[in-house]
Amino acid sequence: MYAVRAGGLTKRFATTTAVDGVDLAVAPGEVRGLLGPNGAGKTTLLRMLFGLVAPDAGSVELLGRPAADPGGEALRDVGGFVEEPAFYPYLSGAANLSLLARLDGGPSAAAVTEALTRVGLDGRGGDRVAGYSTGMKQRLGLAAALLRSPRLLLLDEPTSGLDPGGTQAVTALVRELAADGVAILLSSHQIGELERVCDTYTVMRRGRVVWDGSATELICAAPASAYALATSDDEAALRIAAEHPGVRAGRARRGGLALALEADRLDGFVLALGDARVAVRRLDLLASPLETMFFALTADDAAVDRLEPEELAETVLAAS
Ligand SMILES: Nc1ncnc2c1ncn2[C@@H]1O[C@H](COP(=O)(O)OP(=O)(O)O)[C@@H](O)[C@H]1O
Ligand SMILES: [Mg+2]
Repeated sequence: MYAVRAGGLTKRFATTTAVDGVDLAVAPGEVRGLLGPNGAGKTTLLRMLFGLVAPDAGSVELLGRPAADPGGEALRDVGGFVEEPAFYPYLSGAANLSLLARLDGGPSAAAVTEALTRVGLDGRGGDRVAGYSTGMKQRLGLAAALLRSPRLLLLDEPTSGLDPGGTQAVTALVRELAADGVAILLSSHQIGELERVCDTYTVMRRGRVVWDGSATELICAAPASAYALATSDDEAALRIAAEHPGVRAGRARRGGLALALEADRLDGFVLALGDARVAVRRLDLLASPLETMFFALTADDAAVDRLEPEELAETVLAAS
């Protein structure tokens, strides 16, 4: 049985088709990343899964039950939030969680404390939510979702607004829950944030699924990684790059060189530079294979593998 199974999901607004014939499945214990730039349709898709908006076409099943009426049986064992989780600002985080717990039939005060601890908010639970940072509200949203001991978590951009430490804490928690068999669908417009947490990805662009598969498949399909390179002799480095298949180099607008490298080409190229007495002064990874793939899939015009290295690097720099 799938935790989420959606087929042909479609939602039209006056002028846009926000979600256009999307198929999606998430199994128990699977962490699936729902990726796409702003406006791709991620939130609308999650709203339909929650029953917050009615689809124009298609079907949804959550934990084997058809999703229909909001607040009904369909959402039993389902937790999460869309866009920003909302709370009473003048109450403390702990008081907000206690209210929610009571609505759900009342886990104990200990459950509230445990949920706050799991998201790293212990010690701040007594503070008013009005004084919370965006990241703290995200964590409280996650704590609220955990209170229900969900078997399915639907999280809309759970890492947005978090500092790197916060992102790491959320990803660790997500992996822990998945190890316990919880199915998790989480969205992001930044693939880098999800790179270490997802088993599978659904990549959306303008309402449609443009890619669907495992993290490994995504890396294998990635066209190239982008690097910024500074050497003691850029002229010579360009000549050497031209002699290496799978290595494309050009001058970057901001100085130095931009490189696009297919997988496994880096060592050979750097060793060749050394053999030619060209010193590498700086080599920065601008985009991992996953990031490059994400740009290629969601770029508005050219596919990244057709871009010149300089354009590739500039595209990546502009988007990061
Ligand atoms: N309530 C709405 N009314 C009209 N258009 C909407 C509404 N909600 C979303 N859209 C449009 O649907 C598209 C997808 O939006 P959204 O699902 O929020 O994307 P994402 O979460 O990926 O950024 C966008 O073009 C957005 O402007
Ligand atoms: Mg959104």
